[in-house]
Amino acid sequence: MENKATYILAIESSCDDTSAAVMCNNSALSNVVATQKIHEEYGGVVPELASRAHQQNIVPVVHQALAKANIDKNQLSAIAFTRGPGLMGSLLVGTSFAKSLALGLNIPLIEVNHMQAHILSHFIAEDNYQSPSFPFLAMTISGGHTQIVLVKSYFEMEVIGETLDDAVGEAYDKSAKILGLPYPGGPLVDKYAQLGNAKAFPFPKPKVEGLNFSFSGLKTSILYFIQRETKNNPNFIAENRDDICASIQHTIVQILMDKLKKAVKQTGIKQVAIGGGVSANSGIRQALKEAEDRWGWTTYVPKFEYCTDNAAMIGIVGYLKYKEQSFSDQDITAQARYVI
Ligand code: KG4
Ligand code: ZN
Repeated sequence: MENKATYILAIESSCDDTSAAVMCNNSALSNVVATQKIHEEYGGVVPELASRAHQQNIVPVVHQALAKANIDKNQLSAIAFTRGPGLMGSLLVGTSFAKSLALGLNIPLIEVNHMQAHILSHFIAEDNYQSPSFPFLAMTISGGHTQIVLVKSYFEMEVIGETLDDAVGEAYDKSAKILGLPYPGGPLVDKYAQLGNAKAFPFPKPKVEGLNFSFSGLKTSILYFIQRETKNNPNFIAENRDDICASIQHTIVQILMDKLKKAVKQTGIKQVAIGGGVSANSGIRQALKEAEDRWGWTTYVPKFEYCTDNAAMIGIVGYLKYKEQSFSDQDITAQARYVI
């Protein structure tokens, strides 16, 4: 007998992207993301504005996700949603919406941990994409997260390293801001870095124990360096933009790779999967390729659409939990701090 298709509507609203996806088993039929532009002029996410924008976006985004998937809401088997971690005001919008819809349709509700979802996004079925096998190491790098996780099975994960202060995307964006680049500046630093000399300006790497990260010292040393140099030459940034960006990128990629190498050594696991917006970075991609050739690692980078915050990654966790009949009660609440 043929297996019945399971359709799950997934909702993500943990930070500044409102997203809805419809999954058919482990495939994404649609994955709609409304990115909030409003934060650009403030140089970072403003929580209150994010929450209001989610309220405006959620209904049209869900409508679009259903329409694109060509699925009627009455065909849905369950609703999955991001419970946390994230901004409380943002999480509340998705959580309340998911709870009401599940109640209205009388179908199960499935809570999802956003960090677990970044990791399990590698299991969304895609042509020509080989998912990692267990155990593997996952590094989640974005504007909000920097973690190395030992993944033993779908739901057995252990955080073995994380940032003690800024996330790596924040380090990129704050460095970009010092250089006068618009928010979010990470992609621009990456673009200019590819034109410059990575050895032009050495920046110190933080000394952090074990597999943890720290990026706030780097930001400060970049700030002092730029202040010092522009005092001598007001055109310093304009004249050296590409070399400064290449040097910043080189330092950040080295910080990430040093810890990954350490994690591989410590665990003996050479399968390394990355996720989060910073996975788009050309420097980290290049470094991972080199690690494959040099040290025999197997590396995994999902489609960019599944790297940044999106609901399909919530949907794949929803599907995996649905198979285990792991459902949530209607009295569940959003959780801003929610460890894996
Ligand atoms: O995952 P994401 O879309 O949102 C969250 O932070 O959750 O990640 C956005 C972050 C921003 O900090 C952005 O500057 C950074 O990812 N980013 C990059 C690149 N593309 C996006 N950083 C460096 N190089 C890139 N190519
Ligand atoms: Zn995220």
